[in-house]
Amino acid sequence: MTILVTGGTGILGRPTVELLRAAGHDVRILSRSTGGDLSTGAGVTGALEGVGTVLHLATSASTRDVRQTQRLVDAARATGVTHVVYISIVGVDTVPYSYYRAKFACEQIIEASGIPFTILRATQFHSFVAMIPRAQRRLPVIFSLNAPDQPIKVEEVAERLVELVAAAPSGLVADIGGPQQLTVREAIAIWQRAAGTRKPVWTIPLGGKMMRAMRAGEHMPGLPGYGRGTFAEYAEHEARP
Ligand SMILES: NC(=O)c1ccc[n+]([C@@H]2O[C@H](COP(=O)([O-])OP(=O)(O)OC[C@H]3O[C@@H](n4cnc5c(N)ncnc54)[C@H](OP(=O)(O)O)[C@@H]3O)[C@@H](O)[C@H]2O)c1
Repeated sequence: MTILVTGGTGILGRPTVELLRAAGHDVRILSRSTGGDLSTGAGVTGALEGVGTVLHLATSASTRDVRQTQRLVDAARATGVTHVVYISIVGVDTVPYSYYRAKFACEQIIEASGIPFTILRATQFHSFVAMIPRAQRRLPVIFSLNAPDQPIKVEEVAERLVELVAAAPSGLVADIGGPQQLTVREAIAIWQRAAGTRKPVWTIPLGGKMMRAMRAGEHMPGLPGYGRGTFAEYAEHEARP
């Protein structure tokens, strides 16, 4: 049966679709660039025709994900989908951040849907951490956050999702993260070494409940991580001038 991948054109979606197709699955993508839209419902029921498994990776990167996930799940139930696989983020149940609360609400919508499901929580992808120095490449300094992270190689998240799609619905499975915990400041230093830049780094001592939760490591699954790819390897590949 066909697998519908929402967000199959995104950072995670692209390698996931590639691996699914390489494994011989019949894959269909739902995203705005392929003519569907979870915010309006356009193309959603049609995209679900003949679909057994939905791999829900689409995100609006905002709290709009909650309504979009509800719309997808309602349509999936109506068309007889037998497995929903959802990608979430480590710590969504405890870190007080609006996007995380929305992702947790999406998990609960899926759990309450009556459709057998699998939910995987992953840590930040390397590209997400690299956004911090990348976004500031024109500034004379780099502003950093005073928090750690355990970033993971996106292709390893894709590999795990392909395993989960092929397996029976498994509920909330073990969290996955990368092989190292490093502060954002350390990640910036790694990026600068690879990029050949030496800009000063200024750490912003942010307070608040969200930063406290992150400093306590609530968004990290602990070591040893699931992934093997390091941020340094990613930077070596991506940061070179
Ligand atoms: N990035 C990270 O570090 C990270 C870490 C852990 C978990 N995650 C989770 O992984 C998932 C994918 O993240 P990502 O980084 O790959 O995101 P991304 O690159 O921003 O991709 C988002 C995808 O969603 C699609 N999309 C956006 N709005 C849509 C709409 N209204 N209807 C249908 N499709 C829509 C986009 O395609 P169009 O623009 O063509 O619509 C795109 O394919 C998200 O659920 C995210 O929370 C991300």
